[in-house]
Amino acid sequence: MVNAEQLADGVGTSLYVHVPFCVVKCGYCDFNSYVIEEEAAHDRFLDALQAEMQRRWRGRQPVSVFFGGGTPSLLSVERLERLLAIVGERVDLSACAEVSMEANPESFTEDKAKAARAGGVRRVSIGTQSFHAHHLRFLDRAHDAEGAEAAFAAARAAGIDNVSIDLMFGIPGETVAEWQSDVERALRLGTDHLSCYNLTFEPGTKLQRDRQQGKTGPNEQELDRAMFEFTRQRLGEAGFDAYEVSNFAGRGGPCRHNDHYWLQGNYVGIGPGASSHCDGVRVSNIKALEPWAEAALSGLTCTSTAETLRPLQRAAEALWLGIRRTGGVDVGAIERRIGVDVRAWFEPMIERHRGRQLVEYDGTTLRLVGEGLLLADQVGGDYLGVAVND
Ligand SMILES: C[S@@+](CC[C@H](N)C(=O)[O-])C[C@H]1O[C@@H](n2cnc3c(N)ncnc32)[C@H](O)[C@@H]1O
Ligand code: SF4
Repeated sequence: MVNAEQLADGVGTSLYVHVPFCVVKCGYCDFNSYVIEEEAAHDRFLDALQAEMQRRWRGRQPVSVFFGGGTPSLLSVERLERLLAIVGERVDLSACAEVSMEANPESFTEDKAKAARAGGVRRVSIGTQSFHAHHLRFLDRAHDAEGAEAAFAAARAAGIDNVSIDLMFGIPGETVAEWQSDVERALRLGTDHLSCYNLTFEPGTKLQRDRQQGKTGPNEQELDRAMFEFTRQRLGEAGFDAYEVSNFAGRGGPCRHNDHYWLQGNYVGIGPGASSHCDGVRVSNIKALEPWAEAALSGLTCTSTAETLRPLQRAAEALWLGIRRTGGVDVGAIERRIGVDVRAWFEPMIERHRGRQLVEYDGTTLRLVGEGLLLADQVGGDYLGVAVND
């Protein structure tokens, strides 16, 4: 796997491909997705994606490719084949360290799994979220528990031997026993990797509006903590490596594409709203589907914003991302790569976190411990704040 030192030497770029369609818009989700079933719109999206790919990706070989969304598995078999061919035309997928795709239970049939496998996908993550009908209803999910199991089986039947499951805990009203049974059910399925996300109330979502109107709200933090601790302990017993705050590697190993993000690697994102990062320059694509498609199909740039991160900002982001990795973040490597005196800028904040027993720091490696693991977003956010407040 690529490590921080190799990244410093400029090892590899990853490719992200955003498929922006969903069957429903889940109330908690702030990702760039649209409920559009018309196949003509799917075709137009693929035409535009092909144009953007031709314009932006020339002759390089990515470390990893990730087809995310939205819901890539919502595309018909023929369109899924075309999606993979658009990328496969320009990239040797068999030479990538990893080719992943997100799949939703309501649309991931065995035919689609076979098309994905034949098109070069070697890792699939099944967006399951919960195995409990009342929680799936609350989350607006379009599938049931049996559907999630069938999607898992479809991936296996198609010969995909690295299958991951996404689950969420901290759903309002959820009990620790329910969460424990979700984890056990994923283990019984034989998952090769598990992502266990603590449900967040994102600005602009229906879930957040419902919270503001007093219709729902987060559970007691004690409950989230109990679920989080159970997850780490139980998955440890089951032989899973807690390589990131929310991610656990079994037989399939870590998600290399996401690990590349956490190491602040370079990546190119194509599709509406996708962002890219190259050596401190961040570019974001036009977010709205049709303006993005129009730009791509007219041979224009799909980019809406570009910013060059100040070195201090880049260092703060390296801490914010890297601290999520269980091995911690190598402060010296960031200094060498970005040329910022990380110790001088960030040690006062690191000391504050250390005083609250949220992190461990030996002068080189900074890592989350104890309560800090549950508060990763806050701890990382504090480092971003140091750069913003400068
Ligand atoms: C962007 S979704 C796309 C995958 C796929 N469409 C699905 O629904 O599973 C990727 C994962 O992010 C997680 N996620 C999305 N919004 C979240 C939120 N507000 N809080 C916690 N996890 C979230 C879910 O577990 C989801 O599987
Ligand atoms: S969670 Fe997945 S299915 Fe639901 S709206 Fe977001 S991207 Fe679509």
